[in-house]
Amino acid sequence: MSEIYSEIVGTGSYLPEKVLTNDDLSKMVDTSDEWIFTRTGIKERHIAADDECTSDLAVKAVEKALENAGLKVEEVDLLIVATITPDLVFPSTACLVQKKLGMKNAVAFDIQAACSGFVFGLTIADGMIKSGVYKNAVIVGAETLSRIMDWNDRTTCVLFGDGAGAAVLRATNEKKGILSYSIKSDGDYVDILKATGGPSATQTSGFIFMEGKEVFKLAVSRMPEISKEVVEKAGCSISDVDCFIPHQANIRIIDAALKNLDIPEEKVVKSIQYHGNISSACIPLALDIACKNGQLKKGDNVLLTAMGAGFTWGSVFLKF
Ligand code: COA
Repeated sequence: MSEIYSEIVGTGSYLPEKVLTNDDLSKMVDTSDEWIFTRTGIKERHIAADDECTSDLAVKAVEKALENAGLKVEEVDLLIVATITPDLVFPSTACLVQKKLGMKNAVAFDIQAACSGFVFGLTIADGMIKSGVYKNAVIVGAETLSRIMDWNDRTTCVLFGDGAGAAVLRATNEKKGILSYSIKSDGDYVDILKATGGPSATQTSGFIFMEGKEVFKLAVSRMPEISKEVVEKAGCSISDVDCFIPHQANIRIIDAALKNLDIPEEKVVKSIQYHGNISSACIPLALDIACKNGQLKKGDNVLLTAMGAGFTWGSVFLKF
């Protein structure tokens, strides 16, 4: 029997209508467009409407990805939602999305790997497709981070936003799609980036807390390291990468990774300016933007690299 691969055959994304610019933020906290843009590369972020939940953003991104893939909702047999801002503690946001879309033939569940969630989701879906049991998977990263933001804390509230991105992964017998991957975690770093409350924690409600410098240092070493590892695993070298889509957390982290990896500027996708850090939604959103604007073409070798709270990090190398 020939080997099974999984390829991305459709992408979609959604950003809520409301835009919050750096100038808007400078009226809320002691900050400025100049500080935010030079330190992070962010100009604006989108904020979900009061009646919009993570599942609503996910639904819109999934609908577009299915349309782009030419796939009917009933043909999907696996739905994975990556999120750190689920609508409810339970049931899963994936089951809510399944209900809203009438995705009756899929098994749906959430995963939580913070900003690495989409990359982790791709690897899980790839394994399930390779088993031969699943054929058409949808992986969506969706977040309403504005709901867990301390809008008085200028060190965090300028960085994050809301949105969703999705990809359709389909089984194929041709050697293309996901060629190699690596995902990692290190629980020693749980305290440098976290939400300060939760249903089973002593503090039951809380906001994003971050030791920015520590996160920065880890990101600039781990992202290049794992990127090289997966490219080599596929028998390639970094110069074979046609399109690099890193997590959109901070432009200075992206630029440091580019320098370390010696990837030229024209090969990287940078969309952070328009949406800020949307955790698990960043990579599928940037992927969708690159597909739509022609930066990413069929047959390109694509490197996706993420890092986030946990600490978690991961890379996927694929032929698009
Ligand atoms: N506006 C204006 N000043 C601000 C500010 C803001 N929004 N946020 C912090 N400052 C101030 C600080 O209070 C500090 O002032 P001080 O020198 O008087 O104490 C000064 O700016 C420098 O702060 P510092 O934290 O040293 O800045 P930095 O250069 O480390 O940049 C981050 C801060 C958050 C942009 C940076 O650390 C970062 O990007 N870290 C990684 C974050 C990340 O990617 N997280 C998500 C991972 S998935």
